[in-house]
Amino acid sequence: MDVYEAIVSKRDTRDFTPDPVSDEDLRKILQAGRMAGSAKNQQLNRIVVVTDASDRARLAECGRFSDWIPSVPVVLVIVVPKEGGKGFDIGRMAQNMMVAAKGLGLASCPVTFHHEDCVRELLGFPEDHEAPMGVGIGHPAPPKEKRQSAPRIPLDELVDWDRWQA
Ligand SMILES: Cc1cc2nc3c(=O)[nH]c(=O)nc-3n(C[C@H](O)[C@H](O)[C@H](O)COP(=O)(O)O)c2cc1C
Repeated sequence: MDVYEAIVSKRDTRDFTPDPVSDEDLRKILQAGRMAGSAKNQQLNRIVVVTDASDRARLAECGRFSDWIPSVPVVLVIVVPKEGGKGFDIGRMAQNMMVAAKGLGLASCPVTFHHEDCVRELLGFPEDHEAPMGVGIGHPAPPKEKRQSAPRIPLDELVDWDRWQA
């Protein structure tokens, strides 16, 4: 799949088959995350790979919209220092990994961990770090219920040229 196709066709998917993600694919996806640029190339993000079923069940309780986590074989949790961690860096890393996954025929969805202490207790990172976001990755299954894909606003509404147009 070409890069543009992978980017524009990627939808966030929460229905997965039970098949594991191969080590080879997982390494490629992690490598894509590693190569994301970061502010001043500080590379402050770290990734914890969570595959164990009981750990995923516990992770599902750490967010408000994460009930699908028990069915996704891999969750890549992005851990950052509270001081100096950059949301932009997290987003770049997450999107790199999800687009790479898409190119490998895998499905993915971001997940927000609203309950900070819940993730920390499970994964064991220190008080001065946090893990606001993760990415679930697995093999796509047909959706259990027909879900409207979230429409995007038209390009004309998204983009102004040269100046802000109120
Ligand atoms: C910052 C951010 C946080 C998100 N958190 C969650 C989440 O906690 N749970 C979830 O199921 N989806 C989450 N999503 C996925 C969004 O719901 C999704 O990107 C949006 O609905 C568009 O979906 P589509 O690409 O399938 O059209 C998150 C997305 C972003 C960008």
